[in-house]
This record gives sequence, C-alpha cells and structure tokens, in this order.
Amino acid sequence: MKNIRKVIIPVAGWGTRSLPATKNIPKEMLPIYNKPVIQYVVEEAQRAKIEDVIFVTNRDKSVIEDHFDYNLQLEGVLERAGKTEKLAQVRAVAEMVNIMSVRQKKQLGLGHAVLCARELVREDPFAVMVGDDLMFGGVPAIGQLIEVAMAEKMPVIGVMEVPFEKVSRYGIIDGLEVSPGIFRVRSMVEKPKREHAPSRLAIVGRYVLTPDIFDYLDKVTPGHGGEIQLTDALQAMAQKSGMMAVRMSGMRFDAGDWAEFLTANIYFALQDEDLRYELLELLKNFVQFQ
Ligand code: UTP
Repeated sequence: MKNIRKVIIPVAGWGTRSLPATKNIPKEMLPIYNKPVIQYVVEEAQRAKIEDVIFVTNRDKSVIEDHFDYNLQLEGVLERAGKTEKLAQVRAVAEMVNIMSVRQKKQLGLGHAVLCARELVREDPFAVMVGDDLMFGGVPAIGQLIEVAMAEKMPVIGVMEVPFEKVSRYGIIDGLEVSPGIFRVRSMVEKPKREHAPSRLAIVGRYVLTPDIFDYLDKVTPGHGGEIQLTDALQAMAQKSGMMAVRMSGMRFDAGDWAEFLTANIYFALQDEDLRYELLELLKNFVQFQ
C-alpha cells in the first residue's frame, strides 16, 4: 500500500446538537480552550505525516479554510506590536498542511460527504477523520491505523470500547482479534439495539481506506435517518475484500456532545501551567456553592 498523504475531513454537517451555539458558527470552529476543534484534528493528521487535507464543506463553512490560511493584516498588527509569540502561533497554523476543499451541497450524511471528495482523492489510499471527533494520547490515533494498514495492505477502521448502554449510538463491529487490539472485521451494524450488538467495539471517526470504497458508496441506499451511511459501504467492502479494525489507545471527546465538549475544555485548560492553579481554585469555589 502506498504511503497515506491525504485525509478527507468532513465538516459539512448542521451541528444541530450544538445549537444555538452553531447557528452561525461551525461546530468545528467552537474553541476547546485556546484552539478551535478542527485545529486539534488537523494537528493529529500532521503528526501522522499527512500533508494534504481535503475539507468537505458547505456554504457557511469557509471560515474553517480561512483558519488554515495566512491572515496578513493580523500578522502585521502582531509584528508591529512586538507580539512575537502570538505571531508565531498564528503563522504556524497557516503552515501546517496543504488545504483543499469540496462542497457537499446537500447534507446527506457522512458516507455522502466522503463520496463528494472522490475526484480529489483519485487513485491513492487515504485517511478519513471526522471533523468533530477529538483523539488524544501518545501515538496519533490516525497514525495507529496507518501503521496497521501499511503492514496488512488492507483498509483499517478505528474502534473504541463503549459501555453497552451506548452501543445504539454507534456503528458496532463483530471482529476476530488476531493480535492484541487488532481485529479482522467479520461484519458491522449501524446503531444496533443493545441486545443485537455483536460487541462493544464502536467505530469512532478514524479510517484508512482505499479508493474502491467510492464504488461501494455509490451503491448505498439511504439508511438510518435517511442518510448515506459510511458504515453501510464499509460493511459491503469488509465482506468482499476484507478489512481490519484497530482498538485505538488514548482518550476521545465528541465535540458535538456538550458534556464531552466541556470536559475537553477543562482537560486542555488544566494542561496549561499558567492557568491550572487559578482554574482549579475557581472550580473548587464554584463546587462549594452548588
Ligand atoms: P455528526 O452527525 O456528528 O455531525 O457528523 P452533524 O450532523 O453536524 O451534527 P448533529 O448530529 O446535527 O449535531 C460527524 C461529522 O461529519 C460531518 C459533520 O460536519 C461532522 O464533522 N458531516 C455530517 C458532513 O460533513 N456531512 C453530513 O451530511 C453529515
């Protein structure tokens, strides 16, 4: 398998769970401490040596592309004010990766969003990272998948164990563990009822795929919620040509879920030594008043 240099990051959804915050601001631009959600996702891709990012966007999301471009006016202001550290931070974001984008004109689901990027991917294997799923730990989550995909020469999907009461929110796999944390996928099912779930291994926002997935996506009929589900195409691909799954290590936050979004904010703020003490004091006082 060729090296993975491109990633598709779908960011075209409506973000209805996060309303009213997302009425005019994309969910992917909401801040987690001092950076927008999407910057953490792109940083993970960059750490895994991915060079080209393809955003699948809609008409209201151009601010996401702008975030990864130069802002010469702002840079001039920071330069003249001698704010060299902030200047370096702002420039670094523009220099992280190459950005391309494609419009998803109708929000027909994650599978459809991936299909929209077909012409930009062409012949090479590629990664998919869901734009509101944050993963943290030592080795970047997408890097863990790339390693297995290169070794096995097969598409790989990222999974994490979730409690049984949450399986109905995810695509769940049935897999044979061939080595610790690495599975050969037998089948998968989208949002199963608890009693029908084949395992607790949920598909969570990281994939390494080959371009034949587009042929499977072409044939998918709208499934759960009237959307073109990526899981349906993955299921067909796993049956036909095989697929691996990797139980990713590290932590995960779904930025579209308020409890997880707020926990991620506190987690990252606590990593900042300058803020940590003051934040803990404020939280302690606040909890005492509850
Ligand atoms: P989600 O289902 O979490 O996002 O999709 P959503 O649809 O924006 O949010 P809710 O459920 O209404 O709150 C996961 C990712 O896939 C993108 C979203 O932008 C998000 O980053 N997505 C989803 C698309 O690009 N297109 C779609 O049609 C659906």
